[in-house]
Amino acid sequence: MPGSQLKVSKRRAPRAGGGWADFLDLAIDHDSEIPLLQQVCQQLRQAIVSRSLLPGSRLPSSRRLADRLGVSRTSVLSAYDQLLTEGYVEGRAGSGTYVTDDVPEQLISAILPRPVAEKAGSLRLSAAGKRFRSLAQGLEPFEDIPFRAGCCSVDAITIENWRRACSRQLRSLERVHLRYSDPIGVLSLRREVAQYLKAARAVRCDPEQVVILSGAQQALDLSVRSLIDPGDAVWVEDPGYMGARFALRAAGADLIPVPVDQDGLDVGAGLQRCRNARAAYVTPSHQFPTGAVMSMRRRLELLSWAKENDAWIIEDDYDSEFRYVGRPLASLQGIDQCSRVIYIGTLSKMLFPGIRLGFAVVPKELIEVFTGAKFTTDRQPPTLQQAMVADFMRFGFLTSHIRRMRTRYREARDVVVESVTRFLGDLIDVEVPECGMQLAVHFKHGISDLKVAEAALSHGISVRPISPLYLDSPARQGLLLGYSGFDSRKLQFASQRLAEVVKSIL
Ligand SMILES: Cc1ncc(COP(=O)(O)O)c(C=O)c1O
Repeated sequence: MPGSQLKVSKRRAPRAGGGWADFLDLAIDHDSEIPLLQQVCQQLRQAIVSRSLLPGSRLPSSRRLADRLGVSRTSVLSAYDQLLTEGYVEGRAGSGTYVTDDVPEQLISAILPRPVAEKAGSLRLSAAGKRFRSLAQGLEPFEDIPFRAGCCSVDAITIENWRRACSRQLRSLERVHLRYSDPIGVLSLRREVAQYLKAARAVRCDPEQVVILSGAQQALDLSVRSLIDPGDAVWVEDPGYMGARFALRAAGADLIPVPVDQDGLDVGAGLQRCRNARAAYVTPSHQFPTGAVMSMRRRLELLSWAKENDAWIIEDDYDSEFRYVGRPLASLQGIDQCSRVIYIGTLSKMLFPGIRLGFAVVPKELIEVFTGAKFTTDRQPPTLQQAMVADFMRFGFLTSHIRRMRTRYREARDVVVESVTRFLGDLIDVEVPECGMQLAVHFKHGISDLKVAEAALSHGISVRPISPLYLDSPARQGLLLGYSGFDSRKLQFASQRLAEVVKSIL
């Protein structure tokens, strides 16, 4: 029986085709830097999603496969264990390990290789095209496993309410749902978003300033392309969010790393490094990745710098809805007297990422700019989907979802804090966040976060190393642990496994 935590199903015997796994052409490279178990795992995964191994196929016994590949049985058992955790295979009592009948679609699309263009090296590309290609080469498949950041919980109430909102719109399907509409979003949704932001985030806006976009990433991209010329200097938090840097680099911006401390971006350091930067990108409510909340003094300093230098501030308010202590600080936009702030928010965190909608609130004089930018990029957001979200918000379902998830995410945060402290307390410092969906732990001793992340993945755990998020400041070794998408049992189990991984590396 492969692995200790095999989920045993009492389902029927294997279907025809069960023995084909024995004929699979698996090749192990003993000189590769990729651990053996990961090589086995990757190739089996590939075989499953490409349907070389059909649902119901029985995998070879661990002993037979180990002999065939010339690897240890433990490597094969761990690979099976990992595939089991990911949902590709299942154990059947007394019978063996089988490819599951229903490998979820998203696992398949996450893993299928992107087609590699022939002669990719000699392709004539623009500078931006080359950056896009290298970004894509570094992208990891999205795996819904602890502690993957960006996973959300959605309970039965929200599912039901979302179904209702969707079916109401589908039942009333009218021409207005089917035709082209305003590039910056339908008015019904912009009204709902404006109302929500005024109440919850003290954002000062009229619906006409709300631009509906396909997520915060598009808001970042369009802001940068509209406000920054190639070569313009832009302050970025150090450490900071990669997605913003991708957008800035694609636009040819000159990134000026500004250190972050417990009060957020160090405005004084920014002034010293480049007083006349064109813009600053900040996450003031919950700094990514440190979790710091920007102090009021720093907020005022930043706004006054922007005013004096005619600079823009891009405020990424990505997950501040989930605040666990006290009242949230008002948004930076809410205290800006000079229309220097572009405020960005996203339904990816407020609701779920598959919805792929976010928004920006822009100063009135930028409305036309964003209308043109959105039109050029993809004409408009999907009309029907916007109507569904507007309906969902109008009935108060979004606020009640946020309220329930706030409780759930706080509990999840506490579980992770408790269990990583229990299993790893002597090796890490845990930063307990007051809001958000992830927390940072930093290693006390010289442990490489990259090594831990790589080893953890081969044990079915996804952690984001923090050191690559630094540009210039001395990099701290640590991990970002997302907790919002997983139940307590999974989080406890993953914490224990993570501790084993870290200790094995030590
Ligand atoms: C700091 C930060 N900003 C923006 C985003 C992007 O959100 P979206 O899915 O809306 O593009 C993320 C996603 O993880 C994030 O962590």
